[in-house]
Amino acid sequence: MRTRLRMWALLTGALALALPIPSWAQLTTSQLQTWLNSPAASSHVGNITGNAKAGAAPYRRYCVGCHGPLGDGNGENAPYMQPPMFQQPRDFQLGVFKCRSTPTGTLPTDQDLFDAITRGFDRTNMPPWNTLSKQERVDLVAWVKHFSPRWANEKPGTPIVIPPEPEVTGDRIKAGRDVFARVQCWKCHGVQGMANGPSAATLTDDLGRPIAPFNFTDGTRPKCGDSDQDIYRIFMTGLDGTPMPSFADNIKPDEAWDLVFYLRALMSQHSKEKEMAKKLDLKPVDPNAPAGQQ
Ligand code: HEC
Ligand code: HEC
Repeated sequence: MRTRLRMWALLTGALALALPIPSWAQLTTSQLQTWLNSPAASSHVGNITGNAKAGAAPYRRYCVGCHGPLGDGNGENAPYMQPPMFQQPRDFQLGVFKCRSTPTGTLPTDQDLFDAITRGFDRTNMPPWNTLSKQERVDLVAWVKHFSPRWANEKPGTPIVIPPEPEVTGDRIKAGRDVFARVQCWKCHGVQGMANGPSAATLTDDLGRPIAPFNFTDGTRPKCGDSDQDIYRIFMTGLDGTPMPSFADNIKPDEAWDLVFYLRALMSQHSKEKEMAKKLDLKPVDPNAPAGQQ
């Protein structure tokens, strides 16, 4: 009898080890139900207040097929998305977001989530949702937030301050090129911005999935918006969960504008920066040039 008991103890012990241990991120329906009554379940965009419970219905209708009933990114369509490296619906339970006005590592504002939902993501199958009413999108923001315990415990970061955009000049574009060289954007994005820098092929996101840097030359748009302010924000806050870091500690606000102008000159879309760079006969950065001699 005693040996049988011990055997059972050993067996169940072994079983417990063999079964995957559910991580904190795998929330149950009842846990989510609890959060529906927390601050994580409301949202504010402009003068509109959103409510998570009201977001449940549009979520089931428009989002669940990709993001899944528990918001963990395991919707029934998720496994079929090609190519998989660009098409992983986000796991909202992690509370990690790419498009933020807030410093790296912090939660985005409700406005950031609203903008991301409205804009969609170029180069992925997440479409823009600008056909939904504003109220529906604000409700969806609250519903998205209720999937992560982070909002029950943390406040969003304080948005970074973006100084007014200066007038673009040839000198500024050249100075932007020097910033691109100094902080080594080219290591991932390539000297011509063609996503072929020496590190490009080895990059993975925080979940270990391969990820490609943005290609400035193929006519696609950044995921987090295409205005000059959006581009400024992208490299000063970083895309959390990806190798695209924040450069807030390495680039001064004035230099950041220079860099925006240089990135415009790299992009294939027509722009006055591109015209000016052509007239200046601006060459790509030379990774082998001695420091300060770009
Ligand atoms: C066809 C699949 C699909 C549908 C439908 C879809 N999404 Fe997504 N969603 C994605 C993918 C893929 C990503 C990740 C894109 C990336 O990380 O580059 C994403 C990312 C997001 C993000 C992350 C934003 C950020 O800044 O990181 C939010 C928020 C979001 N989706 C909300 C929604 C909402 C709300 C709906 C429904 C109105 C919805 N999605 C419908 C595929 C989808
Ligand atoms: C360690 C590699 C790495 C470095 C260094 C790097 N990036 Fe990126 N960058 C990435 C990756 C990877 C992505 C794609 C993220 C995604 O699609 O989710 C990206 C995306 C971007 C995007 C598009 C974001 C969007 O919303 O789609 C811009 C713009 C950008 N990087 C600018 C820069 C600038 C400017 C620098 C230098 C100041 C820089 N990057 C340095 C890896 C890097």
